[in-house]
Amino acid sequence: MRARAVVAGGAGFIGYTFVSRLLREGFDVVIVDNLATGTRRNINDLLQENHCEFVEHDICQPLAISGPVDYLVNLACPASPVDFSRIPVEIMRTCSEGTYNLLELALHKRAGFLHASTSEIYGDPEIHPQHEDYTGNVNIAGPRAVYDEGKRYAETLIHTYHREFDVPVHIARIFNTYGPRMRPDDGRVVSNFCIQALSGEPLTLYGDGQQTRSFCYVDDLVEGLFRVMLSEFSGPFNIGNIEEISMEELAEKVIELSGSASEIEHRPLLHPDDPKRRRPALDRIKETLGYEPTTDLTTGLTRTLDWFRQVVAEQ
Ligand SMILES: NC(=O)c1ccc[n+]([C@@H]2O[C@H](COP(=O)([O-])OP(=O)(O)OC[C@H]3O[C@@H](n4cnc5c(N)ncnc54)[C@H](O)[C@@H]3O)[C@@H](O)[C@H]2O)c1
Repeated sequence: MRARAVVAGGAGFIGYTFVSRLLREGFDVVIVDNLATGTRRNINDLLQENHCEFVEHDICQPLAISGPVDYLVNLACPASPVDFSRIPVEIMRTCSEGTYNLLELALHKRAGFLHASTSEIYGDPEIHPQHEDYTGNVNIAGPRAVYDEGKRYAETLIHTYHREFDVPVHIARIFNTYGPRMRPDDGRVVSNFCIQALSGEPLTLYGDGQQTRSFCYVDDLVEGLFRVMLSEFSGPFNIGNIEEISMEELAEKVIELSGSASEIEHRPLLHPDDPKRRRPALDRIKETLGYEPTTDLTTGLTRTLDWFRQVVAEQ
């Protein structure tokens, strides 16, 4: 019999690639999404398949799904910096009440629970790279805290359901991910640079441009998520890429790969509590699940630029 997964947040950027992977692996999938930041357009092609259905629903409300469920996957949460000030209360509620409602459903259905947590729970980290035992440095009053603390609360709730009710849980801490189906206006550096380069506008570089990030291509991330979901381990597992790049180098690379004539424009730092460095330690997932990302930045950015070319052509 086919396994069945409910994927909350399946109409979003990561959701699309994750659901595609589940369908290729022979799962039946129910996408649950309130379309807060995802779109129906994202999943139109997936819904053409017999094995994929869509339920428009806000997970802050209790959720009933008929029939058996083997896996409950929680990808639902606005995750872009622009959303943190636009819909802060919705983010906190999605992380808290939403995660609670999905855990109750997992308990009721005796389903495994895969949760998309984030590197943001490490805040502005004091150690590099960040391993899973590091408890983080989050400014609870800062503008990012709605997301960071929401995700920390969700992890605690998930561990509690595991301890108290024996729900099989799997937590993945996702580091910066990029690839096709990112939103052009999500305020993230990869989408900003790609859209600016393809539109011939200057690439805006905040601060001195020496702050670093490590970027994971979405297919690599989904490979990691899939392994974590099927594993017998709760984690948490970091998933990301260890290649670190400064924002200045990234801007130069996007200009080169897009063939753009755009220049780089320096601006003062927008958010002073933005982390200066962020890089995952991947030893745990490598040793436990044999996982390593395989897509280099040049390949991933080339595919991402192809996606944004379509987006720009449609605008
Ligand atoms: N993209 C990244 O780099 C990144 C990094 C770390 C963690 N994550 C996590 O991965 C998950 C997916 O992120 P993404 O980048 O695909 O973001 P996204 O905004 O593209 O997708 C999130 C999806 O969740 C849906 N959603 C939001 N609130 C909801 C609610 N209350 N009820 C039902 N659906 C709701 C949105 O409509 C959207 O389709 C999120 O949990 C995010 O926190 C992403």
